[in-house]
Amino acid sequence: MSTESACQPEHRKILVTSALPYANGSIHIGHLVEYLQTDIWVRYMRARGHDCLYFCADDAHGAPIMLRAESEGISPEQLVNRIGKEHQADFADFGIEFSNYHTTHSEENRLLAEDIYRRLVANAHIKKYPVSQAYDVEKGMFLADRYIRGGCPRCKAEDQYGDNCEICGATYNAGELIEPKSVLTGSVPETRDSEHYFFHLENFQSFLEQWTRADHLGAQVSNKIQEWFEGGLRDWDISRDAPYFGFKIPGSEDKFFYVWLDAPIGYIASYWHWLKQQQGEVTLDQVRASWAEREIHHFIGKDILYFHALFWPAMLEGAGYQTPEKVNVHGFLMVNGQKMSKSRGTFIQARTYLDHLNPEYLRYYFAAKLSSGVDDLDLNLDDFVQRVNSDLVGKVVNIASRSAGFINKKAGGVLSDELDNPELYQQFVDAGVSIGDAFESREYARACREVMALADLANQYLAELAPWSLAKEPGNEQRVVSIYSQAINLFRVLVTYLGPVLPKLTQQSCEFLGVAELVWEERQNPLLGHSINKFKPLMQRVDPEAVDQMVGASRESKG
Ligand code: MSP
Ligand code: ZN
Repeated sequence: MSTESACQPEHRKILVTSALPYANGSIHIGHLVEYLQTDIWVRYMRARGHDCLYFCADDAHGAPIMLRAESEGISPEQLVNRIGKEHQADFADFGIEFSNYHTTHSEENRLLAEDIYRRLVANAHIKKYPVSQAYDVEKGMFLADRYIRGGCPRCKAEDQYGDNCEICGATYNAGELIEPKSVLTGSVPETRDSEHYFFHLENFQSFLEQWTRADHLGAQVSNKIQEWFEGGLRDWDISRDAPYFGFKIPGSEDKFFYVWLDAPIGYIASYWHWLKQQQGEVTLDQVRASWAEREIHHFIGKDILYFHALFWPAMLEGAGYQTPEKVNVHGFLMVNGQKMSKSRGTFIQARTYLDHLNPEYLRYYFAAKLSSGVDDLDLNLDDFVQRVNSDLVGKVVNIASRSAGFINKKAGGVLSDELDNPELYQQFVDAGVSIGDAFESREYARACREVMALADLANQYLAELAPWSLAKEPGNEQRVVSIYSQAINLFRVLVTYLGPVLPKLTQQSCEFLGVAELVWEERQNPLLGHSINKFKPLMQRVDPEAVDQMVGASRESKG
């Protein structure tokens, strides 16, 4: 007996987001860890009948985007439009299905950012005071640390970044560099004062100490970040001087919101844009109310935890907006045990992957390696080939391809009226409780392991009964049909469980099985006396040569 429906509220209203990729570069396989992890979770929650929306957008603002557009001789709007389209095509081709994909450079986001800012001002969470900063006179622009290079004040190594030394590891202020130079013009920066706007994070110290321990982050992350509270929380500079690509701060002449102020607000903006597509006119007050009605689940990488675990909940709280239910944090992708590297050809762009390999391979491989923790995960390319071939092609697809022929040739494509082994079938059904829990708690590796253990059982069942030998003797036809029908029913349950991971395989399996869709709860009822269709190969083996070619292409491309 399954107890799964008893322990879940029937119909949850969920809103899921992935971090918004910067609109100045291409999606690579590192990013895909996150978008695939999120997409799988969303598909699982939908398969369980929840109302689960998935929003994302391009993160369009900031100095790097402004400067890149300038160097290409186009406007920032033109650049973010072009990159936005490219990102959406990459995501779509990996089967990542957003409810809406928007941009932070949108009217919705401007209105929301202004609203949140005004509410923060009204609640006395914003302060203003001058700061001294490097200024490039030739360019007429204040310089962030990454745009200044010079000698390391500690080890004297030349040509180091403005905030840390790659040689000795020292961290310092750009002002301490020896003979600093602007990366943009090569000129020597001046120090100038400018008034900045700050978010008074300290006001939220006790709120955040509580919030970060209240199961919104998971134990591993929650424990790790408690040290952030020890020294007290520092003011957060939310403004940038012109020239900047972003939103003007209301009431200011030439100050813009720092990109990280309006970036997470882009989650709400994407939702608003979607609401308008659904309902026509939707006011700001209605969006704020509607946002509060949903369980909000963010998926992010560990590098942007500070923004999502401190600034974001504090901003929302301070402005009277609903705070998130969960911030789910993942680790970074390594390839062959090392950081992704252009020279090794392991800095692989989404499009380069798609040019060589089936996206479902990567969806499965990441799923097979992902847990709810923040540890980095390794894409080992040999293991990738071996794992996909042995699990998906060798274990799962194989069950259907071995069984379909006989049913189609000898039984007119009609499955038997009874299962050959109802206990085994029930075992498959029951396993769905634990597999479902694994998906919901982002323990995808465990979900995959449990599905593959079932696939082993199905193959073992076939191997023991050897219907192909039985079929050689006359009089066994019905038993053989019944055995193969059992196998096809086991296959159907396996594909139901893999549905969130493998949308394309699921689609093709539906065509083969002659069903419209695979519904999680319907796995309880086997297909009996049911017509299936001709079997078309569901998945090719991974060709190791295609992997080599992909690595070669990544090594060549400048990307
Ligand atoms: N624009 C910000 C996010 C703003 S969210 C309001 C940003 N963009 S990003 O393009 O650099 O990264 C987008 C997401 O991809 C982040 O969650 C980041 O952690 C994740 N990843 C980027 N590179 C990654 C790997 N190599 N491995 C795993 N995840 C990675 O940050
Ligand atoms: Zn140094």
